[in-house]
Amino acid sequence: MTQRGLFISFEGIDGAGKSTHIDALARAFQAQGRVVTLTREPGGTPLAEKLRAIVLNDAMDALTEAMLVFAARRDHLQQLIEPSLARGEVVISDRFTDATFAYQGGGRGYDWQTILYLERLVQTAQGLEGDFVRQPDLTLWFELDPDIAAQRLAVARVPDKFESQSAAFFSRVSQGYAQRLQADPGRFARIAADNPRETVWQDVLQAVGHKGWLA
Ligand code: TYD
Repeated sequence: MTQRGLFISFEGIDGAGKSTHIDALARAFQAQGRVVTLTREPGGTPLAEKLRAIVLNDAMDALTEAMLVFAARRDHLQQLIEPSLARGEVVISDRFTDATFAYQGGGRGYDWQTILYLERLVQTAQGLEGDFVRQPDLTLWFELDPDIAAQRLAVARVPDKFESQSAAFFSRVSQGYAQRLQADPGRFARIAADNPRETVWQDVLQAVGHKGWLA
C-alpha cells in the first residue's frame, strides 16, 4: 500500500534561514525510509526555473509578477508536486503560494482578492471526492524581525530584486504571512527564526511531530 503523500512548505522573509532546516528535514524523512522530493518556488521544473530567473531579475508590474509566479506554480504542480504526492512521497518546497500573498500581496500591495482568484484557478486538483484546492499539509513560517534579516543578508551575498528591498517592504511581507496564517491557522507552524540554529531545528521537529509525522 502506498503511504499518503505529504506536502510541506517553508516560508519567511529573505534571510530567515530556511535552507539548512529544509535539508535537515529531508534527511530526517529519508532516514525513516520515505522518498523525499526537495523543490522550490518559483521553480522546481525546467520551465518554472526559467520563469524564476525572469521574476527575480526583471522589473515588472505586480500583476505580471503574480501571473508569472502562478504560471511557474501551475507547471510545478502538474509536472512535479502532484505526481510525487500521488506516489506517496514527501514533497518539501522552499516557498509556495503564501509567498505570493506575502510578497506580491503584502510587499508590493497587490490586490489580495485577485491572488485568491489565481490561487483557486491554478491549484484546483482532482481528488477522489471531487475537486479541491491544493495546499501544503503543513507550512513552517520562519518569523524574523526584518531588521535582523537585513543584517544577515548584508553580509551574505549579492542581493536579487527582492533581497534588495527595504525593511519596510519586508515588514509588509511579514504582515502578508500573518494574514495567511490567520485565514488558515491549522496549516501553519510559527518558528521563531531569531533563536539559535539548534533551537530552531527542535521547533521544526516539534511542528512536524505535532502532525504525527517522523514519530
Ligand atoms: P528565495 O526562496 O529566497 O531563494 P534564494 O534563497 O535562492 O534567494 O528566493 C525567492 C524570492 O522570490 C524571494 O525573494 C521571494 C520571491 N517570491 C515572490 O515574490 N513570490 C512568490 O510567489 C514566490 C514563490 C517567491
